[in-house]
Amino acid sequence: MAMIPEESIKAVLDATDIVDVIGAYFPLKRAGSAFVCNCPFHNEKTPSFNINPAKQFYHCFGCGESGDAITFVKNYENLPFTDAVKKLADRAGVSIIEGAYDPKIEKRQRSRSKLIELHNAAAEFMHLMLRKSPHAAHAREYLKNRGFNIEMAERWKVGWMPDNSKLFLDWAREKGFKGRELIQAGLAGLRDERNPEAGLWVRFGNRLMFPINNDIGDTVAFSGRQLVEDKKSGKYINSPQTQVFDKSRTLFGLDKARKHMTKAKFALICEGQIDAIVCSEKGIQNAIAPLGTACTEHHARILKRYTSEAVLCYDADNAGYKAMGKAFEHLAPVGIHVRCIDMPKGEDPDSYIQQHGIEAFQTLLDNAKEYFEFKLDQESRETNLADIREKTRLAEELASKINLISNKIAQDTIINQVAARLGIGAQDLRKGMRKAALGQKRQRDYDKSRDQNVDHNGEPMEQKAIQTQLDSSVSMLCSLALNSNEAQEIIREQLESLHNPLQNTTGGHLLTTILARKPDASSNSAVMAYLTTIEPGDRMALQQTLSYRTPEDIQKATMEGINMIINSHYQREETAVRATLAQPGLSIEQVSHLMQRTKELQKILKNLTNRYIR
Ligand code: CTP
Ligand code: MN
Repeated sequence: MAMIPEESIKAVLDATDIVDVIGAYFPLKRAGSAFVCNCPFHNEKTPSFNINPAKQFYHCFGCGESGDAITFVKNYENLPFTDAVKKLADRAGVSIIEGAYDPKIEKRQRSRSKLIELHNAAAEFMHLMLRKSPHAAHAREYLKNRGFNIEMAERWKVGWMPDNSKLFLDWAREKGFKGRELIQAGLAGLRDERNPEAGLWVRFGNRLMFPINNDIGDTVAFSGRQLVEDKKSGKYINSPQTQVFDKSRTLFGLDKARKHMTKAKFALICEGQIDAIVCSEKGIQNAIAPLGTACTEHHARILKRYTSEAVLCYDADNAGYKAMGKAFEHLAPVGIHVRCIDMPKGEDPDSYIQQHGIEAFQTLLDNAKEYFEFKLDQESRETNLADIREKTRLAEELASKINLISNKIAQDTIINQVAARLGIGAQDLRKGMRKAALGQKRQRDYDKSRDQNVDHNGEPMEQKAIQTQLDSSVSMLCSLALNSNEAQEIIREQLESLHNPLQNTTGGHLLTTILARKPDASSNSAVMAYLTTIEPGDRMALQQTLSYRTPEDIQKATMEGINMIINSHYQREETAVRATLAQPGLSIEQVSHLMQRTKELQKILKNLTNRYIR
């Protein structure tokens, strides 16, 4: 189970306001006492995502996602539970006690922080090498030729990995980093798998090194550029996937760019990290770059935390156009508006800025076209749209892309624009969109089933939980018990009479555990903290009951709920006894025993009515 004790979870939730937390990701609208927005967990056009400030939880009436601030951060950012708690703890300035409940998780946490420590230290080492090593003169010269001065190199901690692996390995040993850790970080590997005595080889030898940071500025990987052309190896190589690095979820430059994205209200997505650095240094500080991969859905979700618009600046060639299309496919569904810069062929932001200056590039940026306009301009330059087959192909491609736009108004505008430019009716385009949507749904279902059981380190995750079934009276009593200490007390007083009925009622065990654990119902955070400690299926069921309206007369409602459970239990028994009695071939004793029980049951049921029903 969790490695963070319940008290700490409670402390974090106490110090956290879910409205602030979710509101920091995207704007919320007030709706009475609640807040609403479009659900970030499914695609929708009208907001059904509700945040309840009083109860400090969220619930989507569209897809059923619900939970507290921790669940939100965990699900939205795809973080392990403990990381989500830590993130909120950092934010609220709460220190958490980490209990060693799960040695496996604790070990993983420890090795994560060790890996980050190693990356941070290695970045410093390589930076120092670049600045001071007599063998790095060529690297310094290269950097100068690319327009980097010393301050730039320092700000981005550009480095150089010596060709002589001994230098790095000696440094690591002296700093107390183990060979195993260098291997885990992807900085080194065993020369001979079967014979560890043979020592280590070092990745990135004689490369210009760019540290890759996570969103809070810790180095988690490196990208190394060749200084000496060698066709046998890539111009750039990146660290492999590790415990702290997954390139499909990492954006180069994000730690520096994120606040500027929010301010400028857009992110500039370049293809190369040098492009992002040069833009940033020239004042376009909202520039980032994926790491030699296409923009993924994870990148899109990350960006959406900071901005709702992305400007793509990719190469003006087929590969670049394709990459822009892919990027659009991930950005549009999360609600990011996409524009594209029309770059002259063969140029990237770095080369363009070196040649024409930043003002000229700024003009290109200001003239960035809306994705569909860009796409139609490019297609009409390169294909003959008078050819009916070409036009049909394009219309189909565009229809499926328009489907991805999450904002309904924006979508309507685009439909009209695209139809007009293709010279077809908007109705025909809509028809095409509906047809495309069928195939897209199938693809989504497939992707979903494929992704479901793997977490972001590629490790198997707990299976998607199935919500525990609750009898309606049980769920009402659970809701009452979690909302009111008075209700909890009343139910506890009836525990004796409830014992057998609860054992025979669907989900009854959940009420029993609430009564045994006694979460303080007057404190939302205590309730949420309690929920984190139970099975996921049970948690889902209880979370749902939390959204029930609290009745005015709690005492009366509680008594009625209790009565209902006991009543149905004995009624079920009575029915069963009668059914048995109707069977042929019973002995005299059996009949008399059953008759006796029927009488008792009738008495119990009558008493119950007198006791509870007014
Ligand atoms: N890339 C990579 N592996 C390669 C080539 C490129 O991982 N063999 C990634 C790098 O992150 C690079 C980005 O793809 O920054 C864009 O590649 P490219 O346009 O070829 O490189 P530039 O950034 O223009 O590199 P440079 O200007 O240094 O030549
Ligand atoms: Mn370049």
